[in-house]
Amino acid sequence: MGRRVSFWTARAGRHAAWGALVLIAGVAVAAPWGRLEDDGIHDRNNPGLPMLQQPADALSPLPPAKGGNGVDWRVALESGAISPRPTLDGAGSVKTLDLDILMKRTGQMPWVRFSHAIHTPWLDCSNCHEQIFATKAGETPVSMAQILEGRFCGVCHRSVAFPVTECDRCHREAQTAAGTK
Ligand code: HEC
Ligand code: HEC
Ligand code: HEC
Repeated sequence: MGRRVSFWTARAGRHAAWGALVLIAGVAVAAPWGRLEDDGIHDRNNPGLPMLQQPADALSPLPPAKGGNGVDWRVALESGAISPRPTLDGAGSVKTLDLDILMKRTGQMPWVRFSHAIHTPWLDCSNCHEQIFATKAGETPVSMAQILEGRFCGVCHRSVAFPVTECDRCHREAQTAAGTK
């Protein structure tokens, strides 16, 4: 996708610039990670290939997750296992926001609690506002079908963030009879 998403750089990784590439490739291979020469993306005859960090070297030390690329990125960030730079050259700072939005148009499924506190350490506001989401709770008509097509939450959760097949990571807020928090 054309948007700037974020810069994942493993503190342990020496080839920080390749970290992001490894992460994107990793989405497709699922843990345990394949080797770059087998991923169908890299030219296995390229003499530069051995200089690249293998996905398993970069990702296996990080907190595990069962889906996606095998890493629980929220825990990785919160535990200090990684410390991403705010920008590519390290300048600037990250603007975070602690604001939850309870999304209740979920049919029979548990409600979705969208957490700005989880997203804003990775993502500038402009990644989501106003092009993907209105800056007003309840204003954006979101459906699961559209998410599965790669819109709304699916812009990232079908590409770089944990996959939409893990329903319970989003739908985890029990519906209450009163319909309130
Ligand atoms: C990963 C996507 C994402 C990012 C990044 C993000 N937001 Fe949001 N924001 C949302 C969603 C989703 C909603 C709810 C929209 C809806 O219900 O229509 C929302 C709603 C809001 C609201 C409305 C709250 C209300 O009660 O009406 C404000 C204000 C807001 N965001 C500010 C920010 C600011 C400031 C930042 C950056 C620090 C930011 N957001 C970053 C996704 C995001
Ligand atoms: C990345 C977060 C996320 C994941 C993962 C996710 N959902 Fe959703 N889902 C949402 C959001 C957001 C809505 C809309 C809520 C709103 O607008 O109030 C929604 C709405 C729904 C709805 C309401 C009806 C509809 O069609 O829109 C159903 C049913 C649903 N999801 C089922 C699922 C199932 C089943 C899975 C797993 C296969 C799943 N969801 C995975 C975020 C997610
Ligand atoms: C612009 C990209 C982007 C969009 C849009 C986005 N997310 Fe995320 N989300 C991320 C990233 C990056 C992470 C952290 C990495 C990860 O957990 O895979 C994350 C993490 C999460 C987590 C934390 C999972 C945990 O460990 O508990 C939840 C829940 C979540 N997102 C729900 C949503 C929902 C619901 C929406 C739509 C309303 C949404 N996201 C839209 C990028 C996005």
